Amino acid sequence: MNTIVEPMVDLSRKEDGTNDIAAFAQDVAEGLSRRQKHLPSRYFYDGQGSRLFQQIMDLPEYYLTRSEFEVLTENREAMAQQFSREGFFHLIDLGAGDALKTKILIQELAKQQQLFDYVPVDISGDAMQQLSDSLRTELPQVNVEAVVGEYFKALEWLQENKSERKVVLFLGSNIGNFETSESIAFLQRVRSFLQPGDRLLMGVDLRKDPETILDAYNDAAGVTAAFNLNLLHRINRELGGDFDVEQFYHYAMYNPGEGVMRSFLVSKIDQDVAIKETGQTFHFDAWEAIHTENSHKYSLSSIQELAGTCGFEVETVFYDGQKKFADVLFSVR
Ligand code: AVI
Repeated sequence: MNTIVEPMVDLSRKEDGTNDIAAFAQDVAEGLSRRQKHLPSRYFYDGQGSRLFQQIMDLPEYYLTRSEFEVLTENREAMAQQFSREGFFHLIDLGAGDALKTKILIQELAKQQQLFDYVPVDISGDAMQQLSDSLRTELPQVNVEAVVGEYFKALEWLQENKSERKVVLFLGSNIGNFETSESIAFLQRVRSFLQPGDRLLMGVDLRKDPETILDAYNDAAGVTAAFNLNLLHRINRELGGDFDVEQFYHYAMYNPGEGVMRSFLVSKIDQDVAIKETGQTFHFDAWEAIHTENSHKYSLSSIQELAGTCGFEVETVFYDGQKKFADVLFSVR
């Protein structure tokens, strides 16, 4: 049993009477009823999916995580100074997880003796407990207040309870998994919680040789394929689906014109799939595809355009040595 010894704010309780399984069933039913079948990529991350994603981050082809580590390591001094220019701030880490990357910045901020506290936000209470425990041992001088809950609930809570300056982190190119309209809505909403002097540091994967991008989502060991197919296993496990997973395969394609990587699950045969929880049967023609994920890749001009649309200004773009990835520091206009 976990004993909570650090202050943690738990905002994860749902007040509208819905439960996670009902919401999952509804999203699956809606997505598989579309003409272009679709499943939302946020459902990749059950226990098995999260383990597979950990393996993806270690793959030789998946450069994103290593590149972002390099961006943060190489630029940590400048980042820490820019965050701290106007004195004390709350460092708010959206989707903190194990915060391995953020720890590079926290260590640097502590080394420079900057005035800040650290507010990791994540939907996983276990992850926030483990992170609080590890920081207490590794960096006992840093004030940590973990928040368990969804991003915007956490930002609302912060607005009511923490009045000082904010530096928000949204690392890992998670923005790339949104549709363009969703990323604009997301950033505008983040902006609505910020004041002049506040900042946002966001990780983005940059446009590059299409082959490099394609390989990152189509690795030789088949881990990304297993990650994508796990979505069908998850529907079988949690919603009583009867997907014959062997009869689907992972297909990834990159459109260099749009800068979008798209992943699909393709049906190898003509087949029907029943899902008990939704009470429906879905038909798949041979070679029909379910669209499961977008991963947007950015250029400097697309980042600047996004910033302008959402009420931000690009303050600094921090790169790795090969300019594969960037962490972009936005200030509030
Ligand atoms: C979490 N996200 C930024 C990853 C990405 O690169 O789009 C998820 C992923 N999908 C396949 N491989 C990794």
